[in-house]
Amino acid sequence: MTYLMLTGGRVVNTGGTVDADVLVRDGKIEAVGNLSGLTLTDVERVDCTGRLLLPGGVDVHTHLDSPMMGTTTSDDFATGTRAAACGGTTTLVDFAMQAPGEKLLQSLENHRAKAQGKAVIDYGFHMCVTDLYEGATDEFAEIMQSGVTSFKVFMAYRGSLMLHDGALFEVLRSSSAVGGQVCVHAENGDVIDRLAADLVAAGRTGPGSHEVSRPPSTEVEAVRRAIQIARMADSPLYFVHLSTEGAVEAVAEARAKDWAVAGETCTHYLTLDRSLYDAPGFESAKVVLTPPLRTKEHRDALWRGLRAGTLGVVSSDHCPFCLEEKRRLGENDFRAIPNGGPGVEHRFIVMYAEGVQKGRISLEKFVDLIATAPARQFGLFPSKGAIVSGADADIVILDPNGTTTISAQTQNQRMDYTPYEGWTLPGAIDAVYARGELVARGGKYIGSEGRGRFLARSTL
Ligand code: URP
Ligand code: ZN
Ligand code: ZN
Repeated sequence: MTYLMLTGGRVVNTGGTVDADVLVRDGKIEAVGNLSGLTLTDVERVDCTGRLLLPGGVDVHTHLDSPMMGTTTSDDFATGTRAAACGGTTTLVDFAMQAPGEKLLQSLENHRAKAQGKAVIDYGFHMCVTDLYEGATDEFAEIMQSGVTSFKVFMAYRGSLMLHDGALFEVLRSSSAVGGQVCVHAENGDVIDRLAADLVAAGRTGPGSHEVSRPPSTEVEAVRRAIQIARMADSPLYFVHLSTEGAVEAVAEARAKDWAVAGETCTHYLTLDRSLYDAPGFESAKVVLTPPLRTKEHRDALWRGLRAGTLGVVSSDHCPFCLEEKRRLGENDFRAIPNGGPGVEHRFIVMYAEGVQKGRISLEKFVDLIATAPARQFGLFPSKGAIVSGADADIVILDPNGTTTISAQTQNQRMDYTPYEGWTLPGAIDAVYARGELVARGGKYIGSEGRGRFLARSTL
């Protein structure tokens, strides 16, 4: 077929919602509007009456096939991107980790090779800088030219991932000089390490101690410090996975001064809470992710931060490790449990249900948070993140009257659990198109293999 026509649906973009048809050709959106008068031959028509047509999700925080804490995340680019597609996400920006002692360009190349031919949706990379060796920043311009226009640094995990403040300053300054942006994992790693050592010394070695070792102030202090260091470096700053009220306040203060500070939070901080750490035995290792889940008060502050525009992006921080792998590494010491959890498959529907259906955000705001704003923030808009003429035809058809039940048994993520086990949510994703190809229907992947393309991203 030359044309695909999605007829009779409600098209939702950040700027508004309209009843409209969508015409697709060669993987791109050709027109949006009342197209019933068009005489076309060779057209496949799909009746979308009663359905919402939403931009494919853009998830800018995933860790696929990624080395972390002595193991590797359980989803590779084949399984992780299939799961994403089934859940309505059609674009990822994944973290390319710098391996210890390895050149940045080499690590980037290695990560690229893991994705090529395996990813089924389009993808880009952030470059994680974990070891600022002599000459590392000289490679930033080449990394940027290759379409990798953002870097990530860690203020926690001393001895493996953490950069000290001088190195953080240097990354910010050098990135800014070549037009890049820096994503910061803001936690005070040294204080956390001391608190964790105290807990272990007191015999509190179980997974519930993870949360106790990372109190909210360890995030807030690091956020405030990073903002000041970014000022010294004259650099923009993007905070990943913010989890606390104090962090939202710090970002709001910076933005009120017109400083280039942006903030992201994640599905799990908005929908789960710290009570999960009280589960018996090793069960709470499922939510040993970083920063930890917080109280309801913090969760409410994050929702307020989204509504106010202080936080602009909701990502999954999909960093999956099976429970058995967490047990193998960290049964006797929570510090060795690999930090992270799954989420790329469920971000879209959980945010729709918990955000829109619960009246916390509008449909248009939902689209902004899960597709448009992340695409803008990371140089992918307008090809990605909107249903407009000229954009890639990445479209989710959602039935607002349907329901979705989440379970480890039926999920596509290569995982033995999901923190949303048994949740039955209003709304069901009927179909997902990626560049005009029907890639998922009813939660099952039906697209071609390895079809994803690397996205060279522009600068801000
Ligand atoms: O729990 C998480 N988030 N794991 C580590 C990766 C990260 O983003 O810090
Ligand atoms: Zn992080
Ligand atoms: Zn992460």
